[in-house]
Amino acid sequence: TKQIAIFASGSGSNAEKIAEYLTNIPDVETTLILSNNPKAGVIDRARRLHIPVLLFDRTTFYESNQVTRLLQAQKIDLIVLAGFMWLMPSELVQAFPDRIVNIHPALLPKFGGKGMYGHFVHEAVVAAGETESGITIHYVNEHYDEGQIIFQASCPVAPTDSPEDVARHVQKLEHEHYPRIVAELVAAM
Ligand code: GAR
Repeated sequence: TKQIAIFASGSGSNAEKIAEYLTNIPDVETTLILSNNPKAGVIDRARRLHIPVLLFDRTTFYESNQVTRLLQAQKIDLIVLAGFMWLMPSELVQAFPDRIVNIHPALLPKFGGKGMYGHFVHEAVVAAGETESGITIHYVNEHYDEGQIIFQASCPVAPTDSPEDVARHVQKLEHEHYPRIVAELVAAM
């Protein structure tokens, strides 16, 4: 059985969609959900889905190898970032080469980088007068939003759209595509 670990910092709607989708795929299991945020909505979702949660703080994540060692001990095959807001430490990236994927709520390489996450992305897209936005699923390296792109999908942005409107359209794309792409990556492993 292939073992998936999902990292999430917030609401966890993507994490939930992925975990639900994978329950219908043979020989794949969402083994663990990890979060840096004890108030994250993803924790309740994980409880409902009966998936164990690991919470960690900044010191543990960046100044020890504990998270990496746990993921190795659990024989995790694929790490999925779903609204995880911290940079992955290089030792973790190196321990899982081409085994960490992220979703970004815009069409990279536009609107990526440090500070470009969640709502800030949609605000920037609207402020720039973009006529489209979308999602980017990509491999994770040691820099924010720079790893190799796996998949993109776009949606139109109307001149009257607010950042909330864009967020809603982008989230729909995320829920539609991320679970399927994760399943395809696992199937190819
Ligand atoms: C998603 O839109 C995801 O693309 C974004 O955070 C949101 C999490 O929503 N990720 C980033 O901005 C990463 N830089 P969720 O908690 O409901 O899945």
